[in-house]
Amino acid sequence: MPPAAVRARALSVAPPAYVYDLPGLRAHAASIRAAVPTELFYAAKANPDARILATLAPYVDGFEVSSGGELAHVREVLPESRLAFGGPGKTDAELAAAFADPAPVHRIHVESPLELRRLAALGRAADVLLRVNLPVAAAGASLRMSGPFGMDAEALGACVDLLARTPWLRLRGMHAHLASGLEAGPLLEVAAQVLGWTRSWTDGLDGLDGPAEINLGGGMAVDYRHPERRFDWAAYGAGLAALRRPGERLRVEPGRAVTAYCGWYVTDVLDLKRTHGAWYAVLRGGTHHLRTPVAKGHDQPFTVLPVGDGPATGEPVTLVGQLCTPKDVLARNVPVERIAVGDVVAFAMAGAYAWNISHHDFLMHPKPSVHYVDECREPAKMSDHPHS
Ligand SMILES: Cc1ncc(COP(=O)(O)O)c(C=O)c1O
Repeated sequence: MPPAAVRARALSVAPPAYVYDLPGLRAHAASIRAAVPTELFYAAKANPDARILATLAPYVDGFEVSSGGELAHVREVLPESRLAFGGPGKTDAELAAAFADPAPVHRIHVESPLELRRLAALGRAADVLLRVNLPVAAAGASLRMSGPFGMDAEALGACVDLLARTPWLRLRGMHAHLASGLEAGPLLEVAAQVLGWTRSWTDGLDGLDGPAEINLGGGMAVDYRHPERRFDWAAYGAGLAALRRPGERLRVEPGRAVTAYCGWYVTDVLDLKRTHGAWYAVLRGGTHHLRTPVAKGHDQPFTVLPVGDGPATGEPVTLVGQLCTPKDVLARNVPVERIAVGDVVAFAMAGAYAWNISHHDFLMHPKPSVHYVDECREPAKMSDHPHS
């Protein structure tokens, strides 16, 4: 069930819309900040909405960006923020942008020996982390970042050779983002493996500028099937504190588990039909606005706000969108007390990898507007805007 302020906004906006609960985000970010004893960066790819970034800024040490577009965007929204610039396939122009005003990025995460050579060719002083690709055990991960991401020991060795000849590039340490969707225990096991490997690899390494810095990435689980279960930040933080060695600078860069809970996708029921015995509610919008359930293979949790006076059912229903594809399903065969044409449906957990990963222009339906519940800064309607 959405908080009262979100519910009120959901009932007052014209659907489809995204409603972001900024006080909820603040409270959540503060609790993460309090629990995590390392540096904390937010992975902007999860949701780069400007007001979300600004809301998070007081609680994080910086932002991780993974493209020239994200780099320019976060710089514009928060020019003073520290940025870590990662991501595969950085172009020369993107690497050069890392040195643009108002300040060079804090860290560049290097993905390959060739990328390091191209960075070196710019002749600019930079602080780099080498991204490692380790075959660690990550039981239960929803996604494993193997394949092209980062480097194995051989490629890392090539980087070290190059760094010996390019003193304007300062090697600060290592970056690892190896899996997504892990609970605190398994994520700590991955961290222990990364730290063990990294320590032995960097031990006595010539050219490491200062004590090793290790970025452990993101990947904290979000359980869409059990919205009330949250990642155990306290256990994770305590585990990191126990793993850290004196002088070591650790950093994490979560995305999904930071912002997933603050976003609501709000729409209404246009049609209700029974086909071959199954009930379908056709919603205004669909997966071109909220691709998360298709991308992750779950039913997006939702609440029906019963304001409609059209035909209704109390039987299990599949919530579909307006796209001409059977894949346009937000939730499948879910029991409901009642759902009627005209009801408002508020989908929870739509604050991360939601609007920004959706195929907005397919079928050219209108885009959702964006609204911010923000008791600190009401009236938020001033800055409400359509998604562009
Ligand atoms: C390099 C890197 N860091 C951090 C993240 C954030 O991961 P998550 O949103 O699962 O916490 C990602 C996600 O793909 C990533 O690729």
